[in-house]
Amino acid sequence: MTSVLVTNIGELVTWDDERPVLRDAALVMEHGKVIWIGDRTQAPDADAVRDVSGAAVIPGFVDSHTHLVFAGDRSAEFEARMAGRPYEAGGIRTTVAATRAATDEQLAANVARHVTAMRAQGTTTVEIKSGYGLTVRDEARSLAIARQVTEETTFLGAHVVPDDTEVAAYVDLVTGPMLEACAPHARWIDVFCEKGAFGADEARTVLGAGQAAGLQPRVHANQLGPGPGVQLAAEVGAASADHCTHLDDADVAALVDSGVVAGLLPGVEFSTRSPYPDARRLIDAGVTVALATDCNPGSSYTSSMPFCIALAVREMGMTPLEALWSATRGGAFSLRRDDVGNLAVGAKADLVVLDAPSYVHLAYRPGVPLASPLSS
Ligand code: NIG
Ligand code: FE
Repeated sequence: MTSVLVTNIGELVTWDDERPVLRDAALVMEHGKVIWIGDRTQAPDADAVRDVSGAAVIPGFVDSHTHLVFAGDRSAEFEARMAGRPYEAGGIRTTVAATRAATDEQLAANVARHVTAMRAQGTTTVEIKSGYGLTVRDEARSLAIARQVTEETTFLGAHVVPDDTEVAAYVDLVTGPMLEACAPHARWIDVFCEKGAFGADEARTVLGAGQAAGLQPRVHANQLGPGPGVQLAAEVGAASADHCTHLDDADVAALVDSGVVAGLLPGVEFSTRSPYPDARRLIDAGVTVALATDCNPGSSYTSSMPFCIALAVREMGMTPLEALWSATRGGAFSLRRDDVGNLAVGAKADLVVLDAPSYVHLAYRPGVPLASPLSS
């Protein structure tokens, strides 16, 4: 069996330039790719037929920002936060200790568990960062484990400075032996540019070294307060500046001028009980916005893209259509991919079926498991 006709699609979201959303549609896929989209009544024959009974079909979610390689539990920190304690970057060190103590098998099993949960909720492409090892050995094995499940791996040795280490010495390690050990397992390099983590000069050094080693930059920027992260992302031509919660007008202008994607991670603001980033301001200014989970044990322990879509619509001024675009096509832009996050002819056939007649239900029915990949 080679070609499959998926038919009786009540609403098909393709993001094709001419036909972004089709009603009463059909799609043909072959060898893992979309080869035809159009009106149900005009569909060509195929070797097999799947009738989805009027359901909506969307491109699989592209989760462009996660930290899945970790061990340990920080539910007590969350509980304390909900009782009034603020979120601090220093909590990362708790996870670092647990991650270092875990075996490769334990870490790989944790990653597999989260990726399975993501897939069950409609995520078909996921980026995974290191950043809870902070030694040459632990960062390299984190990335090797992540590489077993995705090509979109990101070296985040510059997550925080480990205990009992000078910043300058640690930057030397990250840009020297650690980078050398990690680059073969990574596509991207990232840095947490924030008070309490790395300043602009250190972050610039880290990203520059990564670029020299063939990695492409992305930045954790302007999460906890105003700062230089977004401007640095624009300066180095990063694919994305993620978080973007505290921006001034010059930051917004830099995103517009540079074309750097703003990655918004509303699970963080939900889980840290903080003000959400202003997606409306960014979209109205012409910034490309991606939505992602930031799945990690400290600031956002959710693997659900539908949950992030619901938050973006309810709390960040996005329309349901904008939020879906940002969770699919926007994520693909953030990862500089054209083959995922859309279902135009030629794209990967990463189809997700909703147990609903329209994509609007993703935000309209928060917390309801509506999305599942077609093959499952
Ligand atoms: O993206 N901002 C830095 N890193 C993570 C949080 C990590 C943690 O608290 O463990 C984030 O929010
Ligand atoms: Fe993050």
